[in-house]
Amino acid sequence: MDIVEAIRSRKSIRGYKPDPVPKEVLREILDIARRSPSAINTQPWNVTVVTGEVLDNIKKGNIEMLTAGVEPHPDVPNEPYEGIYKQRQVDLAVQIFKLMGIAREDREKRAKWRERGFRFFDAPAAIILSIDRSVDKLSSHLDIGAIVQTICLAALNYGLGTCIEDQGIIFPGVVREFTRIPESNKIIISIAIGYPDWDFPANKLETGRESLEDFVTWCGFA
Ligand SMILES: Cc1cc2nc3c(=O)[nH]c(=O)nc-3n(C[C@H](O)[C@H](O)[C@H](O)COP(=O)(O)O)c2cc1C
Repeated sequence: MDIVEAIRSRKSIRGYKPDPVPKEVLREILDIARRSPSAINTQPWNVTVVTGEVLDNIKKGNIEMLTAGVEPHPDVPNEPYEGIYKQRQVDLAVQIFKLMGIAREDREKRAKWRERGFRFFDAPAAIILSIDRSVDKLSSHLDIGAIVQTICLAALNYGLGTCIEDQGIIFPGVVREFTRIPESNKIIISIAIGYPDWDFPANKLETGRESLEDFVTWCGFA
């Protein structure tokens, strides 16, 4: 797949077919993604790939935490957004709820939708990225961003869809219980991955972006 086409066509997939993703395919994607850049080539990423019973247990554990009303306590605290950023978050939710036929006041359906995120949108596999706490610095977080985007783009080449998500790892204790990620690693982010169910309404979402005029400053040009 052409790189520009891949960048333009990538979108978050929140509904998957149940078909498993072969380990060999996931291996190939990660083998491509390990070429991602990182600060002074530190390659701080630890990648944990989960499927089958392990993923089922994490999904179940996350839902149990939610149902019990446990406050999320991610390894990297997520501060609430404000202003225009909050507005964009709201706009996204409005778009998704519209596609899913969820009314604003329908608390039950909204809660069910929230649960989907904690179940990795029912994807058959998930990729969890963590870093050693000794390299817990801005550059490592940027490096994780680089490999995450590379994984998502490479996945397209295999007909796979992805959704980068913090919902899946917001209860890191659950993830640690069923994986071998040690306390000495900070869990940063996860990616749901699988074959897209194109009939799933939320997958029809086309998110907008600001125009270049709104966020680019040109300096020194004629
Ligand atoms: C760091 C990060 C965390 C995200 N967490 C979630 C999440 O928890 N749940 C979710 O539905 N989408 C999540 N997303 C996906 C974004 O909502 C999505 O990328 C954004 O709305 C743009 O849409 P697009 O990916 O379809 O282009 C996350 C994306 C990023 C980069």
